[in-house]
Amino acid sequence: MRVGIAEIDGQHRRLLELGKELAEAKAAGKSPDELNRLRGGLVDQTLLHFATEEKLFAEYGYPEAAAHAAEHKRIALQLRQIHARMVGGADVPDEEVMKFQQEWVRDHIQGFDKKFGQWAVAHGLR
Ligand SMILES: [Fe+2]
Ligand SMILES: [Fe+2]
Repeated sequence: MRVGIAEIDGQHRRLLELGKELAEAKAAGKSPDELNRLRGGLVDQTLLHFATEEKLFAEYGYPEAAAHAAEHKRIALQLRQIHARMVGGADVPDEEVMKFQQEWVRDHIQGFDKKFGQWAVAHGLR
């Protein structure tokens, strides 16, 4: 899971923790308000995380910044849509949320973020 840049790895860990907290809160039967508060936090932290990566792309002149940022935009839109449905009281199927999480974690971090990490480490960023 590590991409090799301390700030990014720390944020990824935090996002995974928040996801776990949310799953646990749901399993423990927490109130919809509490679940929505956790979901809101996860959305905010994800957007903040994307902004952090994009700031690093700009700072270091990452040549694949545009494609990576476009992928963030696509994920953020999907995330906002799922969140809005949940806050609106819709019952979003767990499989849909899990599929999204898997896609975001497995495909994005293992693909786009790792690629940036390798490039950045080779260019002196830690
Ligand atoms: Fe990331
Ligand atoms: Fe990313």
